[in-house]
Amino acid sequence: MALPEIDLPVYPDECDAYGHLNQASFLSLFERARWEMLMRGPGWDVFSRSGAWPAVRKTVIDYHAAAFPGDVLRFQQALTHHGRTSFTMRQTARRVRDDTLIATAEFVFVCVNRDGRPIAVPREFSDFMSPRKAGADAQRLTVNGVNLAVEVRGEGPSVLFIHGYPMDRSIWAHPMAMLDGFRRIAPDLRGMGQSDAPDLGYSIETYAGDLAALLDALGVDEVVLCGLSMGGYIAFEFLRRWRRRVRGLVLMDTRAEADSPEGKRARDTAAAPAREGGASAIADSMIPKLVGPSTRTEEPEIVEQVRAMVAATPVPGIVGALGAMRDRPDSTADLADLDGLPTLILVGEEDEVIPPARARAMAEAIPGARLVVIPGAAHIPPLERPTATTHALLEFLRAIP
Ligand code: MLT
Repeated sequence: MALPEIDLPVYPDECDAYGHLNQASFLSLFERARWEMLMRGPGWDVFSRSGAWPAVRKTVIDYHAAAFPGDVLRFQQALTHHGRTSFTMRQTARRVRDDTLIATAEFVFVCVNRDGRPIAVPREFSDFMSPRKAGADAQRLTVNGVNLAVEVRGEGPSVLFIHGYPMDRSIWAHPMAMLDGFRRIAPDLRGMGQSDAPDLGYSIETYAGDLAALLDALGVDEVVLCGLSMGGYIAFEFLRRWRRRVRGLVLMDTRAEADSPEGKRARDTAAAPAREGGASAIADSMIPKLVGPSTRTEEPEIVEQVRAMVAATPVPGIVGALGAMRDRPDSTADLADLDGLPTLILVGEEDEVIPPARARAMAEAIPGARLVVIPGAAHIPPLERPTATTHALLEFLRAIP
């Protein structure tokens, strides 16, 4: 169930001499919205009932547009980080009349007891605030300063599945269910799926660091990396830093090159509609890039699944991933060094983001790499053509010595 939205009017006494809502009143409206939200949930004594008080440690407010007396502002709130004693809440205020984004704010809280010592965030509050649950099949682990949802299935040599942008671990549902004989590990990257979505701190290095820390937490030393698109960019970074831990590599619908100057500019342009209109504003334009004509005509339910996945991605995760991809290093020089590492390149025949010719060129640059082209799939083969994709994975994994 979604958290309640709170509508609050702007009164004249909250405005400055020019009639704009002033900064102090902004702050109190954000606070009022939080208490109102708790009133409609576990009650505003949810903290004091467990002897805790949420002490504000940090506040960041971005002002986007002015608000005036008579405006009604709609506040939405979400938990973007949940630790043992601390949590971070992101709030947005939009004018109800025209849906203009007025301000966004991030508040970091630490729960303290009467002596000012940190204590656990009350369970009742967490349950109310955490629509981003891990899901029935997943667990949550805090690593590298972020709480990640991760699904782990099976026993045997480990395979780490790294999804692309703006996706989540659900794209791996088929290989996760079917690859018997392997320990399958599929996390949601920070900022996507059911993992925490901090406002800042995204880079390809950070994603790779999260994954290494996650493997440590799971007690896994060596893995086969299987990265799709942005997941491939992360796999290259993981290899640069932890090559010793990698037994094999699957690069799906991905490339080694960095973004061109135009590509970098396009990342910045792509972030704007998400910032303004939320993730659903980019879902429609992403669909033709992610799923191919075959899926669009034959499997409308997959199109809807992808649309819902994109629309559910937190905006900080979208903006963070776009910046991380824009700034990623070029990995082409690393390809020749993969000599000796069992490598499979897999690509959807209809992929326009990474056309098969590009995947073929990458396969030719990696000594000994195999190429598999999946007919009828575009940018997300494990979702569009799951049986063929899982079959190719299984053949490859079984052949790794
Ligand atoms: C992805 O699927 O991860 C993205 O399309 C990659 C990219 O935009 O470069």
